[in-house]
Amino acid sequence: MKILGISAHYHDAAAALVVDGVPVCAVQEERLSRRKSDAAFPLSAIEWCLDHSGIRPECLDAVVFYERPMLKFDRILTCALRAFPRSWRAFPKAMKNSLGEKVWVRGIISSHLGTPAKKILFTEHHQSHAAAAFLTAPTKRAAILTSDGVGEWATLTVGRGERHPDGSTSITLLREIRFPHSLGMLYSTFTAYLGFAVNEDEYKVMGLAGYGRPTMVDKVRRVIRRTPDGAFALDLDYFEFQTTSSRSYSSRFIDLFGPPRNPYEPIDLETEDGRRFADCAASVQRVLEDTLVDLARSLREETGLTDLCLGGGVALNGVANARILAESGFERVFVPPAPGDAGCAVGAALYADRIHFRNVDREIPDHPFWGPSVDGSELARIASEDGQFVDELNEATLLERTADDLAAGRIVGWMEGALEFGPRALGHRSILAAPHSAEMRDRLNREIKYREQFRPFAPVVTIEAANRYFDLPAGGARLLQTARGYRWTIKSGRVTFENGAPTGELPGRLQRSGQAMANHGGDGQRRPG
Ligand SMILES: [Fe+2]
Repeated sequence: MKILGISAHYHDAAAALVVDGVPVCAVQEERLSRRKSDAAFPLSAIEWCLDHSGIRPECLDAVVFYERPMLKFDRILTCALRAFPRSWRAFPKAMKNSLGEKVWVRGIISSHLGTPAKKILFTEHHQSHAAAAFLTAPTKRAAILTSDGVGEWATLTVGRGERHPDGSTSITLLREIRFPHSLGMLYSTFTAYLGFAVNEDEYKVMGLAGYGRPTMVDKVRRVIRRTPDGAFALDLDYFEFQTTSSRSYSSRFIDLFGPPRNPYEPIDLETEDGRRFADCAASVQRVLEDTLVDLARSLREETGLTDLCLGGGVALNGVANARILAESGFERVFVPPAPGDAGCAVGAALYADRIHFRNVDREIPDHPFWGPSVDGSELARIASEDGQFVDELNEATLLERTADDLAAGRIVGWMEGALEFGPRALGHRSILAAPHSAEMRDRLNREIKYREQFRPFAPVVTIEAANRYFDLPAGGARLLQTARGYRWTIKSGRVTFENGAPTGELPGRLQRSGQAMANHGGDGQRRPG
């Protein structure tokens, strides 16, 4: 059975193809159109998926869209009407924006792919997130926690997934929190207040938080309150995102936290304002983490399960995930490489396969490399035409020369195999540099990435060295089958090899592949979609 999954029209449009129950490829539209966070209907991504797998559109058994457009329109219309007359200025724009192609998705799919209407299916947004989280994780049964800005109405769901002995699969979402009460929207509001782009720069808030102190936690707790049933509610007097798309926070929010940051002025951590913004980021980050840890802890107690699958854009917040792993009581926590809306393309296709069509469960390869591959000779041709020097090296020389370059303080661009699916560079499209000096961080941010000084990097080490450099969460365990056939796991804060520690030198591929490296930290949350 051939199923195409599509996410589009909000941000991070993507396409994914599932054949006989297993993803065969997936790519975000932005990687092909070169427009960051491209939200357009992902025609290029769809074309590439079909080309790559040699499948004609008419051979598809189903095309699945990652959310229900009419339910989403219902939410937008209801919120606009509820906020009337305050929303009267924004109302025409909201309607214009929502009507048209965002609602008539079935027609768009049909016209582009020629797919008959009966073969076009829709999942709910958080069903897609949950499926992307659970069905790609190497676990038989797990609790599921999804959290994002908003889908149709839900902004956070808790549930459970199970692969049954007869091959069937169930995903049950037990409860949900609904718009406008949303952890993603809370974080996005602070993103806007701190002068960053909403739905784009949330990861900058997490990066900035590392430089601040959570001195404003009490203030943040005034804008998001815990409810007696263990959930949370935003105090809507502090927000405006629910009534207008032009402003996220209200004047009362400014009264509480002070003047917002001017996006055109750099953040100087030496100044009082700079420290205030960093403290503000640290405070919202702390409240987000505390809320997620509490929710995960309750879910652990309620379900009695030992595995947790995280989905939704909030699951890109690596710092919060580490605390969930350490403090919630779950023994293993799984986060897919694309927990945000792009990953919903995979989630929607898998949901249709396992739940709608009731196909037998299949094991899914545990890696993020689902995109287009590199053609070395084509790259060499382009580089030569561009007047660049091209040298072909065997693998041993390549590794040696790369190591020498890194040791000498040079920065290396590394490209191999298939493109990662999701926002992280995980070893196939990475910028490599040795962290021997603090100056390297500033150089990378300033000269290569053209970004602020507080932005973090993902440290990467071999598995064997993980104990030396990281405090591994005592409750964390992550199995990985490597090319050599041994398994490693993190138990009691130590990396241990289940079928004997590898002896001698690891194969070169393991040393330089994101698959086989303990990869901690990174850019963190990117966006809450
Ligand atoms: Fe989402």
